[in-house]
This record gives sequence, structure tokens and C-alpha cells, in this order.
Amino acid sequence: MCGIVGYVGKADVTEVLIGGLKRLEYRGYDSAGVALIDDDRIVVNKVSGKVAGLKARVREEWGDGRYAKATTGIAHTRWATHGTPTEVNAHPHLDHTGEVALVHNGIIENYRSLRARLEGNGHHFESDTDTEVLAHLVGECDKGDLFQAVCDALHQVEGTFGVAVISSREPGRIIAARRGSPIVIGVGDGETIVASDAAAIMAHTQRVVYLDDNDIAIVTADAVELRDLNNVPVTREIAELRYDEAAAEKGGYEHFMLKEIHEQPEALANAIRGRLDFDLGSSVLSGMGTSPRELGELARVVLVGCGTSLHAGLVGEYAFEDLADIHAEVEQAAEFRYRNPIMGSRDLMVAISQSGETADTLAAVREGIQKGAFVMSLVNVVGSTISRETGRGVYLHAGPEISVASTKAFTCQVAVLLMMALKLGRGRRFSRVQGRELAREIERIPELVEMVVAQSDRIAEIAKEYSKGEHAYFIGRGPMYPVALEGALKLKEISYVHAEGFHAAELKHGPIALLEQDTPVIAIACDVPGKDKTLGNIEECKARGARILGLVSERDHETAECMDDYIMIPRCHQLVATIPAVVALQLFAYHVARLRGCEIDQPRNLAKSVTVE
Ligand code: G6P
Repeated sequence: MCGIVGYVGKADVTEVLIGGLKRLEYRGYDSAGVALIDDDRIVVNKVSGKVAGLKARVREEWGDGRYAKATTGIAHTRWATHGTPTEVNAHPHLDHTGEVALVHNGIIENYRSLRARLEGNGHHFESDTDTEVLAHLVGECDKGDLFQAVCDALHQVEGTFGVAVISSREPGRIIAARRGSPIVIGVGDGETIVASDAAAIMAHTQRVVYLDDNDIAIVTADAVELRDLNNVPVTREIAELRYDEAAAEKGGYEHFMLKEIHEQPEALANAIRGRLDFDLGSSVLSGMGTSPRELGELARVVLVGCGTSLHAGLVGEYAFEDLADIHAEVEQAAEFRYRNPIMGSRDLMVAISQSGETADTLAAVREGIQKGAFVMSLVNVVGSTISRETGRGVYLHAGPEISVASTKAFTCQVAVLLMMALKLGRGRRFSRVQGRELAREIERIPELVEMVVAQSDRIAEIAKEYSKGEHAYFIGRGPMYPVALEGALKLKEISYVHAEGFHAAELKHGPIALLEQDTPVIAIACDVPGKDKTLGNIEECKARGARILGLVSERDHETAECMDDYIMIPRCHQLVATIPAVVALQLFAYHVARLRGCEIDQPRNLAKSVTVE
């Protein structure tokens, strides 16, 4: 989603800003722009489309070293919310005097009324965006002190923001603030970088300050001063970035997605390492911060998340009920706080999020805390807002995930959920022997995944038979039902094939009407209870002309024979098997998208981290 970079220092400002935007490309965006302070005025360049286009434009128009003396600038990648992704709607936006420039992530919910009032005061707007309204509002409030102007403007705003603002009257200074949209400030040696994501900072410094909601920062090359929106000083610690540079490169793979699929055995090993206790037949997840007694008193687990993380939660629901004998529910994070859910101190809420910044999941976390539930997070990005606000939870240790379509985060989420369920289960009905058996199965996950990744070339061959259709249906049952949902999501995200996942039994209650000659049906027919029924459902599809790609358990040749094509999934515990099964579907989606010539790592319209509700 939208990305912010700001820089004050002695390096080439344009280069730093565009380099930072490149690092944020993975988040997904559709236009980009940059603004510098040149002597006593602001200069802006914006394009609809990619950062490469912005770089070319800047080289063409500013390439003569004209702005070499600039020390301060801000830049942005925009993921359109209000107004189409045109050059005019791209950020930075200027105020009515042209002296203030602003970039913004989030949504100004009351922008219509603010715009009408400003128009009444003679302001003229060029774009359709909520952000331009905020820029004008800051300009209107500016009586010679940009910091105060930003405070005064933000007091009038409803909604969410991460902002960076500059004024030609105050060169060498950026004002940055956050409410709901992350802002992190990199503290370098004689240079300071403001960004919405540490990825834009890591090339310059490892020392960062994360803003909390309602923090506002006065940023210069040598100092970062923090206040709250009421001008009261606040202190935030300087954290050390632990970001692996190599992980942010493709390392010889054609796409980040393929690299991340291949990284899964290692990522899963990292997620599992040191967390299994074979003696007790349990898991060691100290970040949960719960005593066995507290776990024993829990009445319910509520799993919340969005997109792929929601699907991991659905597998978790099976795991908690089956292994831990505890009532479990999955809630779409977006729905949670509006549904007024019944929650209390005996409920464990697990917020699942790769980025730890998804606005809907964060809102659900806050609601859960408000209602007195035991709230913990299952997050990949260390130091992200959800992990900080929950204060307890388990990190995935999957390493940076760059491709918009989530792969290794999903499998690590499921692995950690299985370990959580094992821990809860051991406090309930699970015996030590049963616990040990499951722990041994969980330990095998990296090796099981390796066995599927090794079939990548074969899956690429199979994908040729399925890459031309415009529709595909995925079916599964039991814990393989969420796998069907995730397989369909992967395919639609990156190949733009219309794909849907259904419970195998639901097919005949409607979706079967969609089947025609050669319609692809991807059937997950691994060994789970009710497999025979799934085989019946597959026959129903075949009878209507569908072409069946089956996921079948290793050596199950009888089931394989029912399929037009098949991929073998290693035999293991039925919940553990969801992980290698999903990896096969990730590879299938990848190869279909590649054959269709799609832009795999940055699919159209999608964002890696969705920071608006
Ligand atoms: C976006 C991404 C998905 C992701 C979802 C939730 O929609 O494109 O890949 O699953 O957000 O993100 P989270 O970071 O909370 O897991």
C-alpha cells in the first residue's frame, strides 16, 4: 500500500528518496512522486505508474544538477483510494500557496466537509484526493510555525494518517506524524530518514524510532524531537533494525514469490527451531506469556486476520478444536469490531498478520483488548504495530516477505498455530505420548515442504494444461477446506484467473452450475476424514466435463487414477499436511501466472500491507 520516504541530510536527496521508494515498491502502488525544497520554493515531480518512470522523469527534468544543493525532500508511492491513479492525484500535494508539501498514508474520513469549508474560504483543489485537503488545511493553519500548523490541522482530521510535511520557509526540517499508519524514523550520522516501512531505511542506518499513534516528530539532519499532538514532549526508544539485506534481493530467482516459496523449508525451520519440547510432548512459546493455569482456564480461542492470514486462522480453528479440545472461532478482522462480539477474560484472541500493520486486524486487536480478552499476536514483522500493541505473542521468524502474494508467512503461521494448539492441548486432554507424536510431525514440516518444492518443474508442466482458462474452482474438506480457499486466492491474486474455493460438499449446492467442458477443478483429495466423499464430489465434476487436478497423498495411486493430473503430497498428520498441500498450490498459481505473463511480485491493484480499513 502507500509508501512514504522523507530525507534531510547531505546526500543527493533525490537519489535517496527514489532509492527508498524502490525499496517500498513491494507494498503495491500505482503512482509515485517526489518534492524537494530548492532554496526558497518547493519543486515537485509526479508520475502515474512505476518508480522507474519517476526516476526517468526526474533524470530528464532535474538531471542537470539543478537541485544538487537541496537537503530536504519527501516522496511517496500511492495506492489509490480517493481518485484514480493519475499524475494529478499522486502525492506529494501542495497547499494553496505552494509553500507546503505533504505526503500521506491512510484516509481522511471527513475530507468532504473540510474541503467544502476550505473551498468556501477560496481554496482551489486540483485533485480528487483526501490528501490534498490535508495539505491545504496545514497551509491554512501555518502562521509561521510548520510544526504547530501540522498539529492544528491534524486536530481537525478524522481518520487515519501517517504524514510527512515540508515547507519552503523551513528548509532542513520535516514534520512527521502518525495515527493508524506506521511511521518509522531512521537516525543516521548527520542524516535522518522518515519512512512508512523500515525497508526504506535499512540501507542508511540500523537505528530507528517507531512513532506511536498521535506522536509528531520534528526531524532535522541531526535530531529527532518527539511530541504528542498537544505539544507535550514524549520519549521513544531507539531500536536496532534487524533486517536481512540479502532477504530483500531476488538471489537468482526470477521472482520474489518463487524465491519465497523455495525459502519455506528454511523459514519453517526457523519458525519451529527451539520451540518443541520432546520431553514434555509440548511446545515452548514463551512470548505467549501465559501460565499453564491461565491456559487451562481459557474457554475459547478467537482467531482474527485478513486475506491469507485469515485462511491460516481457519486451519488454526481445526487445530485448536481437534488438538486442544477448546472451542475455536475465526473472525474476519474487518467485521470484528462492528459486530459487537461477545468477548471476555476467558477468551484468547490470536491476531494473525504477516505485516503486523493491517488496519482491520489492528482495529480488531484494540476491540479485543477493550473487551478484556487475552489478546496475543502471531506476526512476522518484528516491532510492528500489532506486535507492540498486543505486547505478547509469537513471531513467525519467516524473514522478510517481499512478494505481495503471501507464501512463507502462511506456512509459518500454520506451523506456529499448530504449536500453540499443541501447548494448549497438553494443558487439557492431550497426553504426553500424543504430544510427542505431534511434536515429531511438526518437526518434519521443513522436510515435507522440501519434498513438494522439489516437484516445482513437474507442477510447471501441469500448469500448462490449466493456464488458458478464465475460471478455476478449488475444493477440499476438513482442514483442506481452508487450503482450497488459499489455493484459489493465490491463483486469482497473481494470475487474474477467476478462482473460487469451496468446501467439496458445497459444490452441488450451487457452484456446480458453473462447470462446463474442461473447467479446471483443483481437488484436494489427501487423506483426511471424509476423503471418500470428496472422491464422490470429484466424480460429480467429471460427469460435467471438468478437468481435475488432484492433490493426493503419497503412494495413493488409486486416488491418483481418478484425476486427469495429480500432485503427490507427503504422508503426515492431517493438520500438518495442510502445509505441504498449500505449497503445491502456491507453485501451481506461480507457474500459471508465469505462463500468462503476469507481473507476479506486484499484481495489479493489490497491496502488501493494507493500512486502510
Ligand atoms: C493484503 C495482502 C495479503 C495479506 C493480507 C493480510 O491483502 O495482499 O497477501 O494476506 O493483506 O495481511 P497481513 O500482513 O495482515 O497478513
